[in-house]
Amino acid sequence: MFLKNLWYFAHRGDRLKRGAMVAKTLLGEPVLLARDSDGVPFAIRDICPHRGIPLSVGGFDGREVECCYHGWRFNREGQCTAIPSLVEGQKFNVDRVRVQNYPCREVQGNIWVYFGNETEDMIEPPEIPDIGERIPNTAFTLEFPCHVDHAVVGLMDPAHGPFVHKAWWWRSRRSIHEKSKAFAPSERGFTMVRHPPSSNSAAYKLLGGSMTTEISFQLPGIRIEHIRAGRHVLCGLTAVTPVSETETELNHQIYWTQPWLTPLKPFLKPLARKFLKQDRDIVTMQQEGLKHDPNLMLINDSDVQAKWYYRLKDAWTKSTTSGQPFANPVEARELRWRS
Ligand code: FES
Ligand SMILES: [Fe+2]
Repeated sequence: MFLKNLWYFAHRGDRLKRGAMVAKTLLGEPVLLARDSDGVPFAIRDICPHRGIPLSVGGFDGREVECCYHGWRFNREGQCTAIPSLVEGQKFNVDRVRVQNYPCREVQGNIWVYFGNETEDMIEPPEIPDIGERIPNTAFTLEFPCHVDHAVVGLMDPAHGPFVHKAWWWRSRRSIHEKSKAFAPSERGFTMVRHPPSSNSAAYKLLGGSMTTEISFQLPGIRIEHIRAGRHVLCGLTAVTPVSETETELNHQIYWTQPWLTPLKPFLKPLARKFLKQDRDIVTMQQEGLKHDPNLMLINDSDVQAKWYYRLKDAWTKSTTSGQPFANPVEARELRWRS
């Protein structure tokens, strides 16, 4: 089962034009995402309540979705507005027909969908600080053929860098050294507190200036790397969304305020993509071993973030099922490892 009462990254905003719709499977559920003619995105269940055909194979005029089987029409709230087969005088209340509607929000160029109970004190979708309403300078999507937990743990794992991400512009096996980073609990997760970045990363050196970086993780699987370089910021937002028990979609967005970085986009995007493809390839290979359901280990301190992730999940599930407030199980501490 996937975590509920949370916002999940559903789609890139720039990939959903006005008047367009797209069918997606998110958390095992068929979801139709569309953007109406006013530019507002919405999400409804992609199953016609009449005879079960996906609504996404029908039409959308920028206002209403029309089922391709018998032409029933639905608005952005999921309310049925027309049943063409009804004859004058036939008593059938169209208002009673609905398709589930999901809360949907567009923030900083990304479309988020909420899964769970809608309550008055519902949380807000994640937002990157200090970049205002900026949209990503560059973004890409990767499919991970694994359960969301392996994608999340693989991405937060600090010890695989020198083995999986060997590259002249990043780091090599020879550059392994001891690291010590301070962590603190933060909203629905934890944060590696702001610090000057690792000295063995050539990519960081490119940015110049006095730099500091802060990396935060929050449920369900959202990582925000926030780099300050002088008066500028460069941020990476990585969000993983379960498609099914065995498939996960990863979306990576990069934002920057340095105008001089924009001409470097044709180089930056392939680098970031290559980096995350290495993460995808390693978890793909891991699936071979996991088929045999082996016992796995989480060791100190390099796997402590993974331990926190599992504890956070448990605490979140406990709070959503009991209705009690969520108690963050992470305690502030320093983690040491070699990488
Ligand atoms: S199946 Fe959709 S209108 Fe009949
Ligand atoms: Fe990695």
